[in-house]
Formats: sequence, C-alpha cells, structure tokens
Amino acid sequence: MADETPAIPLLTPYKMGKFSLSHRVVLAPLTRSRSFGNVPQPHAILYYSQRTSKGGLLIAEATGVSNTAQGYPETPGIWTKEQVEAWKPIVDAVHAKGGIFFCQIWHVGRLSNRDFQPNGQAPISSTDKPFNPQLQSSAIDVAHLTPSRRLGTDEIPQIVDDFRLAAKNAIEAGFDGVEIHGAHGYLIDQFTKDHVNDRTDQYGGSLENRFRFALEIVEAVANEIGADKVGIKLDPFGDYMESGDSNPEALGLYMAESLNKYGILYCHMVEPRINPALEKRETPHSLLPMRKAFRGTFLVVGGYDREEGNNAIAENRADLVVYGRLFLANPDLPRRFKLNAPLNKYNRDTFYTPDPVVGYTDYPFLEDTS
Ligand SMILES: Cc1cc2nc3c(=O)[nH]c(=O)nc-3n(C[C@H](O)[C@H](O)[C@H](O)COP(=O)(O)O)c2cc1C
Repeated sequence: MADETPAIPLLTPYKMGKFSLSHRVVLAPLTRSRSFGNVPQPHAILYYSQRTSKGGLLIAEATGVSNTAQGYPETPGIWTKEQVEAWKPIVDAVHAKGGIFFCQIWHVGRLSNRDFQPNGQAPISSTDKPFNPQLQSSAIDVAHLTPSRRLGTDEIPQIVDDFRLAAKNAIEAGFDGVEIHGAHGYLIDQFTKDHVNDRTDQYGGSLENRFRFALEIVEAVANEIGADKVGIKLDPFGDYMESGDSNPEALGLYMAESLNKYGILYCHMVEPRINPALEKRETPHSLLPMRKAFRGTFLVVGGYDREEGNNAIAENRADLVVYGRLFLANPDLPRRFKLNAPLNKYNRDTFYTPDPVVGYTDYPFLEDTS
C-alpha cells in the first residue's frame, strides 16, 4: 500500500552531485575507538550496516592519514595496505544496503603524545606553543599531551601528500568519497585558527595564509580522486583545545568562498551554538552567511533534533543535516524520524570505550523496543 503521508523535509530526496540521496539525515563521523592496532575490525561491519539506509549518506569515523596522525587509542587508519583491506568488507556491507559512504581523513596534529608517535617523537603541528596546563577535555588525557614540534615550511608538502594518498587509499577501499577533517582543533584547524597558529611563513598571519594548508590539501585530494568526491568538515566558531579564532565570522566566510574555486562536493559546518563539550550555548552567530556563500552541498551539524532538522531544510539553511549522538544511539534514526517514534538515549560512558558490542552495536532498533 502506498504511503499517503507527505514526507517531512528531512526525508525528502536530494541530489548531491552524482549521488542520489533518498533522505537528508546523515550519520556524523564518530570516533569509536574500537579499531585495534589502528586497523578497522570486523565488528565495524555490523555497526555501519546497522546505520545504513538505502540512499542514506554515512561519514565514517575519523581515520588517520599517516603514522603521525593518531592521538586516541584504537582509532583506524588508511595509510597501510592492511588498513585498506580491512575497510573493504565494511564499505561493501554499507553498499550492499544501498548506502553512500565517505571516509573522514584526519590528522590530530598536536592533540597527541609520544606514545602514539613513531619512535616516540613529538607530535607535529603548526606551532610549538605548549597547552595551557588548566585545559580540560572529556575525550583527551590533557595531562599526557606531549608538547608539539612546529613543522618546517619545507615539511608541509609531505603532510599534504599524506592526505592525498589517504584519499587514494579510501577510493581503493571502495569508499564513495572522502571528507577532509578540518574541524575540532586537529591539525588543519591548528593551522587555520589564529589562537594557535603563530607562524611567520606563508602559512601564518593573514586569513589567506592560515587557510592555505587546508586549501592545498583540498586541491591535492581533489586532483587525486575528483572534486565531485570531496567534502570538508569545518568549524570556524569552535574553540576546542584552544583552537579558537579572533574573527570566526570572517574566517567562516573566507572558508566558504575560497572553497568555491575547487568545486568540491560539500562543506560540512559545525553550528556556532555547540561548545567543546557538545552542549548548546548562547551565540549571536549563525552559519547562514557561509551557507549562502558556498556553492556546493551544505551540511550542518550540532545539537539537531527532528524538529530543528526539519526547519533547517524547510527554511533552506542546509541541504543535509548531520546527526552524531542521536544516530549513534538510534541505528534506525531516519525511520524513527519518519514515524516520529521515541528515541533511545545515548550512553556517554561508552562513547570512547573499546568494547566491540556494548555502546556500539547493542542500541535497539524500533522493533526491539517494547
Ligand atoms: C563519541 C563521539 C565521537 C566523535 N568523533 C568525531 C570524529 O571522529 N570526527 C568528527 O569530525 N567529529 C566527531 N564527533 C563530533 C560529531 O561528528 C558531531 O559533530 C557532534 O557530535 C555534534 O553533533 P550532535 O549534536 O548531533 O551529536 C564526535 C562526537 C562524539 C559524541
């Protein structure tokens, strides 16, 4: 029998470049810390396929581009043959259910310590400034961060190339595209934001200089796999782990406008209302100027529920809405939104734990809840 009820805005189709999405509810990249030895594990097949719907877009958890890119326990990588092979059955499972799957490629920069680095070396960054000892984080052991080493200007092309190779590997693993992780205080953000970047070369100082590293990565990745397979996540208003900016509005606008030159598929931006602990805060800012400036698909994330997501689509403030914690706890989130069904609550205590089932693949589907 045909479904007579009109679709809510979130569940209307959308054409993202060559990808035909059947709805606009996107799985956020979510670090799950269950990729032992930096290799994706078979239990991720179930985790991602649980969250796949036909024509739905999924963004994989942050995935390291090289052996200097890691800063959390048991996060996946995509720089070795073994890692590429391990991703393949996970990607296949998502495709078998009709999902569209992007790999988020990542370098943590200074949010790391010697234990995660080859030969116990210092993590690399745009800077060698130490962190404020008062700094706190729910996901990072701040006390154990090792002071970073400032990258020499001549070393930067190698890091750009690591992103290019990671993107190439992601396509080899079967992913439909990549999302460059330029948000949340990691390496790209460490170059972009003036509270961190204290360089005096062509990668420091002006807005153009600070965003140069990001754009070089965008260009290299787009040249390697095609701009129609490239997205980027950005967080101009964020100040996670000291990575704030003195003029985030101007920065966000510059990001959106300068990306247009490369014709990439999408820009995924974090709402200014979300603070580093992922709680909502009062803000006079909005993403609207960036949404208007960027010519590709615009994704928003940060504290969205069903109603706010519907409003964002209906009011044309976004093309797609990305859900993190709600999708983590509700593998059938698009269906629950369709039925306006109650949602499972997420359990924060299991976010960054290594269990291959608990807090990972054991959130019930609608049919299972009494
Ligand atoms: C457990 C957890 C892991 C996360 N890991 C990542 C990540 O790997 N990459 C990323 O860009 N954002 C990551 N985030 C941020 C989410 O993608 C999203 O931006 C954030 O949760 C806000 O969306 P929400 O309010 O819908 O949860 C993570 C968030 C959580 C809760």
